Amino acid sequence: MNMIEGHMAIEVPENVPVWDVDPYDHNILRDPYDYYSELRAKGPFVYIPKYAILATGRYLEAKEVFTDWERFVSSRGVGLQDFKLEEPWRPPSVVLEVDPPYHTKTRTVIARALSPKAIRALKEGFQIAADKLVDDLLAKGTSEIVVDLAEAYTTTVFPAAVGLSETDSRRLVDYGAMVFNALGPDNELRQSAMAQAPDIVPWIMERCKRENLSTDGIGATIYAAADDGEITEEEAGMLVRSLLSAGVDTTVTGIGSLIWCLATWPEQFEIMKADPKLVRPAFEETLRFTSPVHSFFRTANVDTEVSGIKIVDGTKIMCSLASANRDERQWPQPDKFDVTRMPAGHLAMGLGIHGCVGQVIARAEVEAVSNALADKVGSIEFAGEAVWRPNHSIRALDRLPVSFGKK
Ligand code: HEM
Repeated sequence: MNMIEGHMAIEVPENVPVWDVDPYDHNILRDPYDYYSELRAKGPFVYIPKYAILATGRYLEAKEVFTDWERFVSSRGVGLQDFKLEEPWRPPSVVLEVDPPYHTKTRTVIARALSPKAIRALKEGFQIAADKLVDDLLAKGTSEIVVDLAEAYTTTVFPAAVGLSETDSRRLVDYGAMVFNALGPDNELRQSAMAQAPDIVPWIMERCKRENLSTDGIGATIYAAADDGEITEEEAGMLVRSLLSAGVDTTVTGIGSLIWCLATWPEQFEIMKADPKLVRPAFEETLRFTSPVHSFFRTANVDTEVSGIKIVDGTKIMCSLASANRDERQWPQPDKFDVTRMPAGHLAMGLGIHGCVGQVIARAEVEAVSNALADKVGSIEFAGEAVWRPNHSIRALDRLPVSFGKK
């Protein structure tokens, strides 16, 4: 068997166009929308020889692959590497990188800890924190929103909700970046992210221990399931690790992207401010429009077929969620940011059994920021260039200088 980037190098399937492109090229990672248009135009799937994978950027195919966990598994890794053939850099996630029936057990525990009921109690605190930060930024006038708002806010309220005894904004953000870069090829970007592992990973693992968590946070609810014998103590620690892997960078990115959208289309900010009921839909549209998680993989676990294309067991399929969320077959005027759209069915939070288990808390966190913006901020203007940061799975802003004007 020929191996490439930790998975089996497949032959080109019949009727699939070959496209000599590198989806991990930094120019594409920073500004991927021409790449996505071409990816969708070429067909339901393309074959990318550089990595010997299939890629899809169309909504229907991405949805089919993402929702059919029996044919397209997560246990072989949601990045380029096939865990059946190569050992991953860290013990796999006990929720993201496993299949049923094991997944059902861990998912039940983590979903309970992150249930709407559990999150409701946190909303008031989120609002107080968001209001204070937005007031500070209004007083300052011009600021760098990624660090001063998106990171400052998320790395305060989220670790507190989980029950961390100690927080470290830099390590939490960089851990997320590391985990998401690890899903891509073993290139310079991945290597430089992984070089931080000796500093960050022991710190993260320490934070996940029961004795380092409060007795009333989300982490404690997860550990309580170990007392009941539902999961082991070790699995509880791994689930807390999942919160820290998946819950910080994604939300930071969501907040940065929301503000970028509102600064780019001020008339949409006006529409949102005029109707408080649009605060939530404005974030859903941000998710559809910017897709913080741009792509994840599945691995075919059987010989199968999608849209008439034969797919062999072991095929790695890159599903470009960000492209599917702009698919003209699915969305009218997909490249228009429209806060009134109500984009039900977008793939930014995934779909099916692995659909984001943290979506209730993510939405609650961002909603508090949106409320503060709608209540207090009259105008959001760019005060410098917005810079996007290349990452193998996340499309995040690196810098976003803006000026907030008072209402
Ligand atoms: C705007 C913020 C967020 C976005 C865009 C996002 C996106 C996603 C996506 C696309 C998936 C599906 C992965 C797949 O099917 O392979 C996912 C799963 C997951 N997310 Fe989120 N997420 C966000 C916030 C959060 C937060 C705040 C948490 C933790 C509290 C979290 C924890 C998880 C976990 C543990 C999974 C795996 C669930 C499973 O496999 O059953 N996410 N997320």
